[in-house]
Amino acid sequence: HQIALLGAPIEEGTGRRGCVMGPAAYRTAGLREELEALGFDVADLGDAQPDPALDVPEHDPKLKHLRKVAGWTRSLARHAEALAMGPQLPIYMGGDHALALGTLAGHAAAAARIGRPLFVLWLDAHSDFNTFESTVSGNLHGTPLAFACGLPGFDVVMGEPLRHRLDPANLCLLGLRSVDPPERQMIKDLGVTAHDMRAIDETGIARLLAPFLERCAAANGLLHVSLDVDFIDPDIAPAVGTTVPGGVTFREAHLVMEMLHDSGLVTSLDLVELNPFLDDRGRTARLMVDLTASLFGRRIMDRPTRSF
Ligand code: ARG
Ligand code: MN
Ligand code: MN
Ligand code: MN
Repeated sequence: HQIALLGAPIEEGTGRRGCVMGPAAYRTAGLREELEALGFDVADLGDAQPDPALDVPEHDPKLKHLRKVAGWTRSLARHAEALAMGPQLPIYMGGDHALALGTLAGHAAAAARIGRPLFVLWLDAHSDFNTFESTVSGNLHGTPLAFACGLPGFDVVMGEPLRHRLDPANLCLLGLRSVDPPERQMIKDLGVTAHDMRAIDETGIARLLAPFLERCAAANGLLHVSLDVDFIDPDIAPAVGTTVPGGVTFREAHLVMEMLHDSGLVTSLDLVELNPFLDDRGRTARLMVDLTASLFGRRIMDRPTRSF
């Protein structure tokens, strides 16, 4: 079993500086070593670079750092598609969530080539479903799911219409507690599965996740997981620019990762929005590494059966 780590130090998708330090923090926190201890053959590919994207306006009155984000999207889409066709399971070390414009485009393209459907699990306080039309902040980390699902207005990003889209029916959002009104409407119109914190409180996170994993397994899907630091409660994961109170607990987050491991379905992973400048003695970076370790098989005790 082989894993590739690729740094994506983009911070222009967010409203503040610091996510550029994310890949270094994951390396400092020992991501590679933890995965090696679990028996994986890990290759650190270093950090990707954005394309120049000189055809994209450098300054847009509304969309912040449009050219930089477009350049990262093109570069990461290429890297992701190539990695998805190879033997290694890629982990993208962000960088802010705008990196998912690229990873989703690349994995959707690879899925089409492989001939299997792409499923996406979005672990986030936010729905990141704004279009270039609907965004109020202009921060492009709030847009990757609208882009990946093929909503209109994004052609400038790739310089052409997106070739391979994510089917909204294969998307599951979990952990929501900050959704803008237009995002709520789009999620409803597209029929996206979206579980907010109330659903987690009432039903339990395992019972919400299991049916999605069952669907992915039944469809022989590829599963891309996108883990935003702000999925987790800010009391234990403070190193993120967009904290929202009332996030998932330490145990809920690990349970999700443990179920993902047991499913055997995960084929790629984004680790996004870590802002080490805001961290408290590395605790958030270490938590993200520990959660990744749970996703790759670290466990307390062996279990006789699959947990979904
Ligand atoms: N919905 C808000 C916006 O569009 C917040 C997005 C936060 N996204 C994130 N990846 N942290 O600006
Ligand atoms: Mn996000
Ligand atoms: Mn978020
Ligand atoms: Mn953010």
